[in-house]
Amino acid sequence: MSKIILTGDRPTGRLHVGHYVGSLRRRVQLQNSGEFDKIFIMIADAQALTDNADNPEKIRQNVIEVALDYLSCGLDPKKSVLLVQSQISELTELTFYYMDLVTVSRLQRNPTVKSEIKMRNFEASIPVGFFCYPISQAADITAFKATTVPVGEDQEPMIEQTREIVRKFNSVYGETLVEPKIMLPDNAACMRLPGLDGKAKMSKSLGNCIYLADDPKTVKQKVMSMFTDPGHIRVEDPGKVEGNPVFTYLDAFCDDDLLAEYMPDYKSLDELKDHYRRGGLGDVKIKKFLNNVLQEVLSPIRERRQQLQKDIPSIYDILKEGSDTARETAAQTLSEVKRAMKINYFEDQELINSQAEKYSYED
Ligand code: TRP
Repeated sequence: MSKIILTGDRPTGRLHVGHYVGSLRRRVQLQNSGEFDKIFIMIADAQALTDNADNPEKIRQNVIEVALDYLSCGLDPKKSVLLVQSQISELTELTFYYMDLVTVSRLQRNPTVKSEIKMRNFEASIPVGFFCYPISQAADITAFKATTVPVGEDQEPMIEQTREIVRKFNSVYGETLVEPKIMLPDNAACMRLPGLDGKAKMSKSLGNCIYLADDPKTVKQKVMSMFTDPGHIRVEDPGKVEGNPVFTYLDAFCDDDLLAEYMPDYKSLDELKDHYRRGGLGDVKIKKFLNNVLQEVLSPIRERRQQLQKDIPSIYDILKEGSDTARETAAQTLSEVKRAMKINYFEDQELINSQAEKYSYED
């Protein structure tokens, strides 16, 4: 069986370093590993509209931002299909059929949707489209017969919902769809990068992000203002590493080469952490180190972005081409689905003949 990746992001803002360590870096590695037969990366604008119905301009503006972030991180349109969800109407059609296989109470149990409803104060009036987005996400994944979905842990309920839909579909209508597997980030620090303020998640609405497109000065300012251990007041004081975002970021971004270059006195991050725990290592020093690490990681991405920004029409061309390619695959799956569901009347000569026969004796 072919190995196929599908994953994507909602275009509600520029991507930040949490997206980078949580998914983008991995996607580029997977793309370049040559292990996968096909890779589809989706800009999920239709899903973004499910909770931004009154703000279409925001989504429209961010489609290109996300595309620029993708390409500047190293996603390569020659190796990965970059597509825009809304341009593949087959996905909406699949969603409608999958809706027959999911109950309202099942959707209500989805923990990610539950917490999103709370966060958006949707309790009193949940848009139906938003409530059903896990079904639409199942359509995104199955339309491309994806076997592997690399996403963060918050997406686990969506993949589980998709697997249930696939099993139900195949058992009712016959083996048609492929059950996907989730692929989680491999490094614990990358699972959920905390915000600059130490809060659980980097998020645009909390204003605690470093964006991939931030200039070097902004990155430095943000790093120097990061939350650390509030009990670590003087350099000599013992410090806490757990829950200290500076160390979480170092775990996520720093590799042996960067350590050797910027902190040659330490053989490993563990040694650095031990020193901080003992006392005698100041916050300014570790923040400066983190700044150096981040600048190294971000500068090639920023430079590529600046190049790409010079020719925006060609970025739209890449998205259009990717969407056209994706549509062919999705159309193929949709026709298999319709055949399995017995709604392929006009291509089914046997049906036409048998219906004709049924009535032939009447005259
Ligand atoms: N729900 C994902 C997010 O919030 C975006 C997304 C839409 C997606 N369709 C997908 C992710 C299909 C993986 C597979 O970022």
